[in-house]
Amino acid sequence: MKAKRARIIVVVNMKGGVGKTSTVVSLADALGTATERAVLVVDVNTQASASYCLVGDRIREIIGAGRTIDTFLRLALLEGKVPPFGKQITRMVSSTKARNRAANIALPASSTDLRVSEREILRHLTNAGETLDGVEVRIKNTLQRQLGSLDGEFGYVTIDCAPGISPFTAAAIGLADLVIAPTIPDFLSNLGLESFLATIGSNLPQPVAASKPRVLFTRSQARGHRSSETALAMVEKASNETMLGS
Ligand SMILES: Nc1ncnc2c1ncn2[C@@H]1O[C@H](COP(=O)(O)OP(=O)(O)OP(=O)(O)O)[C@@H](O)[C@H]1O
Ligand SMILES: [Mg+2]
Repeated sequence: MKAKRARIIVVVNMKGGVGKTSTVVSLADALGTATERAVLVVDVNTQASASYCLVGDRIREIIGAGRTIDTFLRLALLEGKVPPFGKQITRMVSSTKARNRAANIALPASSTDLRVSEREILRHLTNAGETLDGVEVRIKNTLQRQLGSLDGEFGYVTIDCAPGISPFTAAAIGLADLVIAPTIPDFLSNLGLESFLATIGSNLPQPVAASKPRVLFTRSQARGHRSSETALAMVEKASNETMLGS
């Protein structure tokens, strides 16, 4: 019988500091204690915040051993080597427990070198004649093949993205079964949110465009009138189909 494919959840927003990493780590902890199969957290943010939240200071050892998404993508896209993705993954990284069971979470870590790698990959592939759209699709296809090779081990993959829409973020969006855009319901945090959602929904090349990005309110202040007014106005404005609760 064919192994069931993992569901891929990508967390993304143009705006920084809105709760993307917190959402990815909380979701992974929740899914990793509630479901049978493991959860894979893929960190494509060069700040490596999700990696650090999960493994703490062990990140140095993990980066030293080359078990990073950055090493994998460099080998695959700059050197054409494609090492087994399973070997880039550190397993059972979370200290979260529920009902005496540890959250079953695995991680190909990020590192600050990812920023350099992303530029080098972009330069290398465009110099070889690839378009920007083509680069994003190549990265997406590379990751998709590797995630496919792990079918059966993981029930969910959650992907933490850097603020903005870098080629790695676009590739991640293209893999998603669900795209979540966390946002703080205040005026400044939501400036540009609509155009960002439209961009990732239709302006990216078709193979990497998100079908239905969902908005998740974070850091809403229960006693702040502004927060709840903004949230209510947003819910009213958006069609129910494109919003995901508060
Ligand atoms: N629901 C929440 N309630 C209160 N504080 C929160 C919540 N979610 C996140 N935070 C805090 O907000 C700050 C930013 O969160 P986080 O790092 O998850 O944002 P981010 O969108 O990933 O940021 P970046 O764009 O830099 O990657 C952190 O200090 C985090 O602890
Ligand atoms: Mg983050």
